[in-house]
Amino acid sequence: MKIIDNIKEIQSKVLDIRNSGLSVGFVPTMGALHQGHLSLLERSVSDSDISICSIFVNPIQFNNNKDLEKYPRTFDDDCQLLENAHCDIVFAPSVGEMYPEKVKASYDFGRLEQLMEGEHRPGHFNGVAVVVKKLLEICLPHKAYFGEKDFQQLMIIRELVKKEHFDIEIIGCPIIREPDGLAMSSRNVRLTTTQRALAPEIFNTLEWMKREAGKLSVPAILEQAQTRLGNLPGIEVEYIQLADENTLVSVNNWNDAENIRAFIALFLGEVRLIDNMKIT
Ligand code: PAJ
Repeated sequence: MKIIDNIKEIQSKVLDIRNSGLSVGFVPTMGALHQGHLSLLERSVSDSDISICSIFVNPIQFNNNKDLEKYPRTFDDDCQLLENAHCDIVFAPSVGEMYPEKVKASYDFGRLEQLMEGEHRPGHFNGVAVVVKKLLEICLPHKAYFGEKDFQQLMIIRELVKKEHFDIEIIGCPIIREPDGLAMSSRNVRLTTTQRALAPEIFNTLEWMKREAGKLSVPAILEQAQTRLGNLPGIEVEYIQLADENTLVSVNNWNDAENIRAFIALFLGEVRLIDNMKIT
Protein backbone atom coordinates (compact mmCIF):
# COMPACT_ATOMS: atom_id res chain seq x y z
CA MET A 1 0.00 0.00 0.00
CA LYS A 2 1.37 3.39 -1.00
CA ILE A 3 0.86 6.49 1.17
CA ILE A 4 0.90 9.76 -0.81
CA ASP A 5 0.53 13.30 0.52
CA ASN A 6 1.22 15.20 -2.68
CA ILE A 7 -1.46 16.10 -5.28
CA LYS A 8 0.79 16.00 -8.36
CA GLU A 9 2.21 12.61 -7.37
CA ILE A 10 -1.16 10.90 -6.85
CA GLN A 11 -2.65 12.48 -9.97
CA SER A 12 0.12 11.17 -12.20
CA LYS A 13 -0.08 7.75 -10.52
CA VAL A 14 -3.86 7.53 -11.09
CA LEU A 15 -3.47 8.65 -14.72
CA ASP A 16 -0.95 5.82 -15.26
CA ILE A 17 -3.37 3.36 -13.65
CA ARG A 18 -6.30 4.53 -15.79
CA ASN A 19 -4.20 4.59 -18.97
CA SER A 20 -3.24 0.98 -18.38
CA GLY A 21 -6.95 0.09 -18.48
CA LEU A 22 -7.52 -0.53 -14.77
CA SER A 23 -10.62 0.68 -12.88
CA VAL A 24 -10.34 2.97 -9.87
CA GLY A 25 -12.58 3.05 -6.77
CA PHE A 26 -12.38 5.86 -4.22
CA VAL A 27 -13.44 6.18 -0.57
CA PRO A 28 -13.07 9.68 0.93
CA THR A 29 -12.81 9.82 4.74
CA MET A 30 -11.67 12.03 7.59
CA GLY A 31 -9.83 9.13 9.25
CA ALA A 32 -10.38 7.63 12.73
CA LEU A 33 -11.53 4.65 10.71
CA HIS A 34 -14.05 2.06 11.87
CA GLN A 35 -15.97 -0.79 10.26
CA GLY A 36 -18.38 1.73 8.64
CA HIS A 37 -15.52 3.22 6.60
CA LEU A 38 -14.04 -0.21 5.95
CA SER A 39 -17.36 -1.49 4.55
CA LEU A 40 -17.09 1.20 1.84
CA LEU A 41 -13.53 0.15 1.08
CA GLU A 42 -14.52 -3.55 0.95
CA ARG A 43 -17.14 -2.66 -1.64
CA SER A 44 -14.56 -0.71 -3.66
CA VAL A 45 -12.02 -3.54 -3.47
CA SER A 46 -14.59 -6.00 -4.78
CA ASP A 47 -15.79 -3.63 -7.57
CA SER A 48 -12.53 -2.10 -8.82
CA ASP A 49 -8.94 -3.04 -9.73
CA ILE A 50 -7.38 -0.27 -7.63
CA SER A 51 -8.84 1.28 -4.46
CA ILE A 52 -7.85 4.67 -3.09
CA CYS A 53 -8.85 5.94 0.36
CA SER A 54 -8.31 9.55 1.36
CA ILE A 55 -7.75 10.69 4.94
CA PHE A 56 -8.21 14.42 5.35
CA VAL A 57 -9.87 16.20 8.26
CA ASN A 58 -11.42 18.98 6.21
CA PRO A 59 -11.35 22.16 8.32
CA ILE A 60 -13.82 24.09 6.14
CA GLN A 61 -16.71 21.69 6.78
CA PHE A 62 -16.59 22.15 10.58
CA ASN A 63 -18.82 24.94 11.81
CA ASN A 64 -17.63 24.43 15.38
CA ASN A 65 -13.94 24.94 16.22
CA LYS A 66 -14.04 22.72 19.26
CA ASP A 67 -15.43 19.84 17.17
CA LEU A 68 -12.54 20.29 14.71
CA GLU A 69 -9.98 20.45 17.52
CA LYS A 70 -11.38 17.34 19.21
CA TYR A 71 -11.86 15.33 16.02
CA PRO A 72 -10.01 12.03 16.65
CA ARG A 73 -6.82 11.52 14.61
CA THR A 74 -5.39 7.99 14.48
CA PHE A 75 -3.34 7.99 11.28
CA ASP A 76 -1.03 5.03 11.98
CA ASP A 77 -3.88 2.76 13.11
CA ASP A 78 -5.92 3.87 10.09
CA CYS A 79 -3.10 2.89 7.70
CA GLN A 80 -2.83 -0.52 9.33
CA LEU A 81 -6.58 -1.12 8.95
CA LEU A 82 -6.47 0.03 5.31
CA GLU A 83 -3.52 -2.20 4.52
CA ASN A 84 -5.33 -5.21 6.04
CA ALA A 85 -8.41 -4.34 3.96
CA HIS A 86 -6.37 -4.40 0.70
CA CYS A 87 -6.40 -0.66 0.02
CA ASP A 88 -3.85 0.19 -2.70
CA ILE A 89 -3.28 3.92 -2.15
CA VAL A 90 -3.86 6.21 0.83
CA PHE A 91 -4.06 9.89 -0.04
CA ALA A 92 -3.37 11.96 3.08
CA PRO A 93 -2.66 15.58 2.16
CA SER A 94 -1.93 18.43 4.57
CA VAL A 95 -4.32 21.40 4.86
CA GLY A 96 -1.73 23.55 2.99
CA GLU A 97 -1.58 21.04 0.14
CA MET A 98 -5.38 21.01 -0.27
CA TYR A 99 -5.96 24.72 0.34
CA PRO A 100 -2.90 26.77 -0.69
CA GLU A 101 -5.24 29.77 -0.98
CA LYS A 102 -8.37 30.90 0.82
CA VAL A 103 -11.39 28.94 -0.44
CA LYS A 104 -13.86 31.09 -2.36
CA ALA A 105 -16.14 28.54 -4.07
CA SER A 106 -19.76 28.72 -3.09
CA TYR A 107 -22.37 26.18 -4.12
CA ASP A 108 -26.11 26.48 -4.22
CA PHE A 109 -27.86 23.20 -3.52
CA GLY A 110 -31.19 24.97 -2.98
CA ARG A 111 -33.62 23.35 -0.57
CA LEU A 112 -31.33 20.34 -0.03
CA GLU A 113 -28.84 22.44 1.93
CA GLN A 114 -31.44 24.39 3.90
CA LEU A 115 -32.97 21.35 5.62
CA MET A 116 -31.79 19.30 8.61
CA GLU A 117 -27.96 19.21 8.61
CA GLY A 118 -27.84 22.22 6.29
CA GLU A 119 -30.06 24.27 8.58
CA HIS A 120 -28.21 23.31 11.76
CA ARG A 121 -24.66 23.42 10.40
CA PRO A 122 -24.43 26.55 8.21
CA GLY A 123 -21.63 26.28 5.64
CA HIS A 124 -21.11 22.57 6.33
CA PHE A 125 -22.28 21.25 2.96
CA ASN A 126 -20.40 23.97 1.07
CA GLY A 127 -17.23 22.77 2.82
CA VAL A 128 -18.09 19.14 1.98
CA ALA A 129 -18.80 20.00 -1.68
CA VAL A 130 -15.55 21.97 -2.05
CA VAL A 131 -13.40 19.15 -0.65
CA VAL A 132 -15.21 16.31 -2.42
CA LYS A 133 -14.99 18.11 -5.79
CA LYS A 134 -11.26 18.61 -5.24
CA LEU A 135 -10.70 15.03 -4.11
CA LEU A 136 -12.62 13.64 -7.11
CA GLU A 137 -10.57 15.81 -9.48
CA ILE A 138 -7.36 14.65 -7.82
CA CYS A 139 -8.14 10.93 -7.52
CA LEU A 140 -10.08 10.61 -10.83
CA PRO A 141 -12.07 7.51 -9.82
CA HIS A 142 -14.59 5.58 -11.92
CA LYS A 143 -16.64 4.94 -8.77
CA ALA A 144 -16.81 6.69 -5.38
CA TYR A 145 -18.41 5.30 -2.22
CA PHE A 146 -20.37 7.17 0.46
CA GLY A 147 -22.32 5.93 3.49
CA GLU A 148 -26.06 6.32 4.03
CA LYS A 149 -25.12 7.23 7.61
CA ASP A 150 -24.72 10.75 6.15
CA PHE A 151 -27.80 10.46 3.96
CA GLN A 152 -28.13 14.17 3.17
CA GLN A 153 -24.40 14.37 2.34
CA LEU A 154 -24.84 11.49 -0.11
CA MET A 155 -27.65 13.44 -1.83
CA ILE A 156 -25.54 16.61 -1.94
CA ILE A 157 -22.69 14.66 -3.56
CA ARG A 158 -24.99 13.14 -6.18
CA GLU A 159 -26.11 16.73 -6.96
CA LEU A 160 -22.49 17.96 -7.07
CA VAL A 161 -21.47 15.26 -9.55
CA LYS A 162 -24.48 16.14 -11.73
CA LYS A 163 -23.68 19.89 -11.57
CA GLU A 164 -20.01 19.34 -12.44
CA HIS A 165 -20.81 16.75 -15.17
CA PHE A 166 -18.32 14.32 -13.60
CA ASP A 167 -18.34 10.87 -15.19
CA ILE A 168 -18.19 9.13 -11.81
CA GLU A 169 -20.64 6.59 -10.38
CA ILE A 170 -21.64 7.51 -6.82
CA ILE A 171 -22.47 4.44 -4.77
CA GLY A 172 -24.44 4.72 -1.51
CA CYS A 173 -23.66 2.04 1.09
CA PRO A 174 -25.75 0.89 4.11
CA ILE A 175 -25.18 2.07 7.69
CA ILE A 176 -22.92 -0.19 9.76
CA ARG A 177 -23.92 -0.43 13.44
CA GLU A 178 -22.44 -1.63 16.72
CA PRO A 179 -24.07 -4.81 18.11
CA ASP A 180 -26.36 -2.63 20.29
CA GLY A 181 -27.54 -0.64 17.25
CA LEU A 182 -25.48 2.55 17.66
CA ALA A 183 -24.40 3.73 14.20
CA MET A 184 -20.62 3.58 13.98
CA SER A 185 -19.05 7.03 13.98
CA SER A 186 -15.57 8.43 14.53
CA ARG A 187 -17.11 10.67 17.20
CA ASN A 188 -18.33 7.70 19.32
CA VAL A 189 -14.91 7.42 21.01
CA ARG A 190 -15.54 10.83 22.59
CA LEU A 191 -18.55 9.51 24.55
CA THR A 192 -18.14 8.80 28.28
CA THR A 193 -19.21 5.37 29.55
CA THR A 194 -22.55 6.78 30.73
CA GLN A 195 -23.17 8.56 27.43
CA ARG A 196 -22.16 5.47 25.46
CA ALA A 197 -24.74 3.46 27.42
CA LEU A 198 -27.49 5.95 26.43
CA ALA A 199 -26.46 6.29 22.78
CA PRO A 200 -28.26 3.14 21.47
CA GLU A 201 -31.54 4.89 22.38
CA ILE A 202 -31.17 6.75 19.06
CA PHE A 203 -31.37 3.44 17.17
CA ASN A 204 -34.09 2.11 19.51
CA THR A 205 -36.16 5.23 18.83
CA LEU A 206 -35.72 4.86 15.05
CA GLU A 207 -36.82 1.21 15.32
CA TRP A 208 -39.79 2.25 17.44
CA MET A 209 -40.75 4.89 14.83
CA LYS A 210 -40.61 2.21 12.14
CA ARG A 211 -42.82 -0.14 14.19
CA GLU A 212 -45.40 2.58 14.87
CA ALA A 213 -45.46 3.97 11.30
CA GLY A 214 -49.01 3.94 9.99
CA LYS A 215 -50.41 3.12 13.46
CA LEU A 216 -49.74 6.52 15.04
CA SER A 217 -50.03 9.78 13.06
CA VAL A 218 -46.83 11.48 11.87
CA PRO A 219 -47.10 14.36 14.42
CA ALA A 220 -47.83 11.87 17.26
CA ILE A 221 -44.76 9.77 16.41
CA LEU A 222 -42.53 12.85 16.21
CA GLU A 223 -43.82 14.14 19.54
CA GLN A 224 -43.38 10.81 21.33
CA ALA A 225 -39.90 10.27 19.83
CA GLN A 226 -38.95 13.76 21.02
CA THR A 227 -40.21 12.99 24.55
CA ARG A 228 -38.49 9.61 24.62
CA LEU A 229 -35.07 11.02 23.68
CA GLY A 230 -35.42 14.52 25.12
CA ASN A 231 -36.12 13.16 28.62
CA LEU A 232 -32.83 11.26 28.81
CA PRO A 233 -30.14 12.96 30.92
CA GLY A 234 -27.51 14.88 28.93
CA ILE A 235 -29.37 14.57 25.62
CA GLU A 236 -30.36 17.65 23.66
CA VAL A 237 -32.35 16.81 20.56
CA GLU A 238 -31.57 19.04 17.57
CA TYR A 239 -34.15 17.57 15.22
CA ILE A 240 -36.29 14.50 14.63
CA GLN A 241 -37.86 14.37 11.19
CA LEU A 242 -39.83 12.11 8.92
CA ALA A 243 -39.06 13.07 5.35
CA ASP A 244 -39.50 12.01 1.74
CA GLU A 245 -36.36 10.01 0.96
CA ASN A 246 -36.10 11.52 -2.53
CA THR A 247 -36.41 15.21 -1.63
CA LEU A 248 -35.83 15.30 2.16
CA VAL A 249 -38.95 17.45 2.49
CA SER A 250 -40.72 16.61 5.75
CA VAL A 251 -44.04 14.76 5.59
CA ASN A 252 -47.20 15.38 7.62
CA ASN A 253 -49.06 12.24 6.61
CA TRP A 254 -48.00 8.68 5.86
CA ASN A 255 -49.27 9.01 2.28
CA ASP A 256 -47.36 12.25 1.58
CA ALA A 257 -44.51 10.18 0.11
CA GLU A 258 -43.90 6.60 -0.96
CA ASN A 259 -40.46 6.28 0.65
CA ILE A 260 -40.21 7.89 4.06
CA ARG A 261 -37.04 8.00 6.13
CA ALA A 262 -36.60 9.09 9.76
CA PHE A 263 -33.70 11.37 10.68
CA ILE A 264 -32.36 12.21 14.14
CA ALA A 265 -29.63 14.64 15.21
CA LEU A 266 -28.80 15.25 18.85
CA PHE A 267 -26.11 16.26 21.28
CA LEU A 268 -25.04 13.74 23.87
CA GLY A 269 -23.08 16.10 26.11
CA GLU A 270 -20.71 17.84 23.69
CA VAL A 271 -20.82 15.12 21.06
CA ARG A 272 -23.16 15.56 18.11
CA LEU A 273 -24.57 12.31 16.71
CA ILE A 274 -26.77 11.70 13.66
CA ASP A 275 -28.62 8.62 12.44
CA ASN A 276 -31.41 7.70 10.05
CA MET A 277 -33.55 4.74 9.03
CA LYS A 278 -35.86 3.83 6.18
CA ILE A 279 -39.39 3.77 7.60
CA THR A 280 -41.71 3.01 4.67
P1 PAJ B 1 -16.30 10.59 7.49
O1 PAJ B 1 -17.22 11.02 8.56
O2 PAJ B 1 -14.94 10.11 7.86
O3 PAJ B 1 -17.03 9.46 6.67
C1 PAJ B 1 -16.46 8.93 5.50
C2 PAJ B 1 -17.50 8.07 4.81
O4 PAJ B 1 -17.84 6.97 5.66
C3 PAJ B 1 -18.82 8.83 4.54
O5 PAJ B 1 -19.30 8.50 3.24
C4 PAJ B 1 -19.73 8.32 5.64
O6 PAJ B 1 -21.11 8.38 5.31
C5 PAJ B 1 -19.25 6.88 5.77
N1 PAJ B 1 -19.63 6.33 7.08
C6 PAJ B 1 -19.35 6.83 8.31
N2 PAJ B 1 -19.91 6.06 9.28
C7 PAJ B 1 -20.56 5.06 8.64
C8 PAJ B 1 -21.33 3.93 9.08
N3 PAJ B 1 -21.56 3.70 10.36
N4 PAJ B 1 -21.83 3.10 8.15
C9 PAJ B 1 -21.62 3.33 6.81
N5 PAJ B 1 -20.90 4.36 6.34
C10 PAJ B 1 -20.37 5.21 7.23
O7 PAJ B 1 -18.21 11.99 5.66
C11 PAJ B 1 -17.07 12.43 5.76
O8 PAJ B 1 -16.07 11.79 6.44
C12 PAJ B 1 -16.64 13.73 5.10
O9 PAJ B 1 -17.74 14.60 5.06
C13 PAJ B 1 -16.05 13.55 3.68
C14 PAJ B 1 -17.09 12.96 2.70
C15 PAJ B 1 -14.81 12.65 3.73
C16 PAJ B 1 -15.63 14.93 3.13
O10 PAJ B 1 -14.71 15.55 3.98
